[in-house]
Amino acid sequence: MGDRWYQEAVVYCLDIDTYADSDGDGVGDIRGLIGRLDYLARLGVTCLWLHPIHPSPNKDDGYDTTDFYNVDPRFGTLGDFAELLHEAQNRGIRVIIDLVVNHTSDEHPWYQSARSSPDSPYRDWYVWSEEAPPDRHQGMVFPGEQNETWSYDRTAKAWYYHRFYKFQPDLNMANPKVRAEVKKIMAFWLQLGVAGFRMDAVPFIIELTEPGNADSPKDMEFLTELRQHVQWRRSDAILLAEANVEPDQLPVYFGDSGGSANRLHMLFDFMLNGRLMLALARQDPESVIEALRDTPKLPEGGQWATFLRNHDEIDLSRLTTEQRNQVYEQFGPDEDMRLYGRGIRRRLAPMLGNDRRRLELAYALQFSLRGTPVLRYGEEIGMGEDLSLPGREAIRTPMQWSYKENAGFSTAEPEKLVRPVVDKGDFGYQQVNVTAQRSDPRSLLAWFERMIRTLREAPEVGSGSTTHIDVPMPPGVLAHRADGPTGTMVFLHNLGTEDAEVDLSSLAPEADQPIDVLSDRGYGEVGKLERLKVSGYGYRWIRLCRGQAV
Ligand code: NOJ
Repeated sequence: MGDRWYQEAVVYCLDIDTYADSDGDGVGDIRGLIGRLDYLARLGVTCLWLHPIHPSPNKDDGYDTTDFYNVDPRFGTLGDFAELLHEAQNRGIRVIIDLVVNHTSDEHPWYQSARSSPDSPYRDWYVWSEEAPPDRHQGMVFPGEQNETWSYDRTAKAWYYHRFYKFQPDLNMANPKVRAEVKKIMAFWLQLGVAGFRMDAVPFIIELTEPGNADSPKDMEFLTELRQHVQWRRSDAILLAEANVEPDQLPVYFGDSGGSANRLHMLFDFMLNGRLMLALARQDPESVIEALRDTPKLPEGGQWATFLRNHDEIDLSRLTTEQRNQVYEQFGPDEDMRLYGRGIRRRLAPMLGNDRRRLELAYALQFSLRGTPVLRYGEEIGMGEDLSLPGREAIRTPMQWSYKENAGFSTAEPEKLVRPVVDKGDFGYQQVNVTAQRSDPRSLLAWFERMIRTLREAPEVGSGSTTHIDVPMPPGVLAHRADGPTGTMVFLHNLGTEDAEVDLSSLAPEADQPIDVLSDRGYGEVGKLERLKVSGYGYRWIRLCRGQAV
């Protein structure tokens, strides 16, 4: 494995409160997660991304913090967290945590002090305006649930800025004291042993908010400062950022204009996510090819994080209205499946009609594209959603471990569970659970284990260069390749229903002895790559040659 571990990582994200409950109070906890680390190691996960772990009133699933230096007491103690880091490390698993410092909860003691008096030492930690800012009805992140970005606080007798919900006042990053505190928070968790941070809402963190200016300037240098700080404290720690901005704005998040990678190590590839959904909906890889072509080239060390599902709605806002409607039609036909006028609040298995072939195809494609794959808990067994729950909660139901009551997630009375388990229909825990799939070598879980192991034998996917193979292709088929010092892999993915035959013989002279290392069925000899069959919804991962370095 190369030094840049994050380029060859398999990231798995989870909410502690819905993963595994060890003490029977109905809420998942750190000890419960420790008990599942062997499961994660077997799956092949090398990095865990934990959604917010701090104390919180939980009005936005923990993205509203009241204490950055502690863990939510429902999850356990700091001692338990240190144990988790140790146990994960023993299994070769790194842990990164969500760092949500664009805002706090309005119940955070800093905000409570700030609003209490203009003389509070914390007053300038937040963003205030004496007058009602004229742009307060612009820039909402949660349209339909949020009416403004500035709200009046009667106690403070001033307007405060909140890019997200009203209960999430933005911190004032122009204040050096706030910047120093953010660095201290990061240093604290690094000292405990986390391997880095998933940084929430980065474009808003660096926004130097000016009341009345809906397009306030951004301070990119702050990202350089944070990177330096993190790297001095732990040289292999990473910053994986959420920055859902237009592609042409992305390069400066990775590094300054000189092309140096001196800012964030990784960004989630939101553009690719939307295009992948479009490609799956249309059964046509063209939009993925466009995405590969159009995404900016990254500086050395910069890396994309790819995903199909995460903990939020699938954000289709960067597609055109027509494209978005195509995705809605296929994957979110009911109004109830959609959210904020831009996305879909469903898991992938129900979106793909629980069609095993399509699920394998989708995940084989995601994991073979350039970047580091991120997998959301429960996707590996094909969990579904509960649309009777409000908003994003639909896709945040407890992990389905077994046939036991509460899906083996908790021994609490069902009404005490943090969220109900899915217990009806094709995705109910009686049908979809880990116990059943562990003992079945043909299960989706067994497939994920195999697929991830195969990927880890092909480090060129994460740390090499991945390109579209631009030769004539039958409709529906995408061919791409990954090259690096460890060798070359070629990938065929057929997004359509028709069986296809592909000629890649122009690549053959480079080949040692090409073989299928992962495929939806046995295709026989690869030979000279001239008449490669790939079934409808089929895929083939072909090792073309091994490099000297292996
Ligand atoms: C992005 C997170 O993914 C989302 O869940 C949250 O609501 C917002 N940031 C605000 O923190």
